[in-house]
Amino acid sequence: MQTHSTVASLRAALDAERKAGKRIAFVPTMGNLHEGHITLMRGAFQHGECIVSSIFVNRLQFGPKDDFDRYPRTFEADCARLVDAGVHHLFAPDENELYPTPQKYIVEPDPFLQSTLEGEFRPGHFHGVATVVLKLFNIVQPHAALFGKKDYQQFMVLSNMVRELNLRIDVVPGETVRATDGLALSSRNGYLSEKERAEAPHLYRLLVAMRDKILAGARDYEDLQAEAMAELVSRGWAPQYIAVRRRSDLKSPTAHDSGLVILAAAFLGTTRLIDNLEV
Ligand code: PAJ
Repeated sequence: MQTHSTVASLRAALDAERKAGKRIAFVPTMGNLHEGHITLMRGAFQHGECIVSSIFVNRLQFGPKDDFDRYPRTFEADCARLVDAGVHHLFAPDENELYPTPQKYIVEPDPFLQSTLEGEFRPGHFHGVATVVLKLFNIVQPHAALFGKKDYQQFMVLSNMVRELNLRIDVVPGETVRATDGLALSSRNGYLSEKERAEAPHLYRLLVAMRDKILAGARDYEDLQAEAMAELVSRGWAPQYIAVRRRSDLKSPTAHDSGLVILAAAFLGTTRLIDNLEV
């Protein structure tokens, strides 16, 4: 694997790959890699012969109260995992390389999509995500890019950006990878105490229970949501939202809509966990 810390070095290497006729498949990350990330790398081989990943903890998508400073940085271990996965090029710039001057041109995603759910509790988060991903897309110029459905709303923001801005990139979803007890893998799971780690899979269990009720005919989504929030509170969580939405646009469904997804965000102690499940 070649590691590049500058845009110029990566561009030169990828120009050569393209000249050799290779298609580039790209998996951007913020590092602290786990099996969820690595599954995306493996999936990338179905979309290109040259696999590129990036590690960059993007300050622009963190709010003032978010965990930017304590976000886990495990560069050496990440490199070993990427080599194992067969990744060809890693782009690992520092902040000066990607933001040499303060970023004043910002991608503003769809107003509804960037202000609902995650956007309500993390204002500005999706413009930070969309802006860095557009920059990375312009640097890497991939044929395909893979993103996990673990971050369901992020996937929608980015695939809609690619469509509306006419980027020639296939945006490919990857299924959520979970621990055997159901907890969605996340770099933030490392913040959990032993006791919290034992409780954490309850979020997924709750989503499964809600899905089963909907499949059995429940249609009062407000009721289901309130019930689920109350259950989490009673177990010591601080939920931010549990919402049944339409997969197509993340708007609230009517009783006749099908193609739904349940999305949730909740604090367990000081750790913020998110998860979702399609119905
Ligand atoms: P990060 O949280 O490092 O995630 C990188 C990619 O891995 C994202 O597409 C995310 O959805 C995916 N991922 C994380 N956990 C997963 C899991 N358990 N199963 C499947 N996929 C999983 O998401 C970001 O970084 C950043 O916002 C980024 C897109 C890199 C922009 O900075």
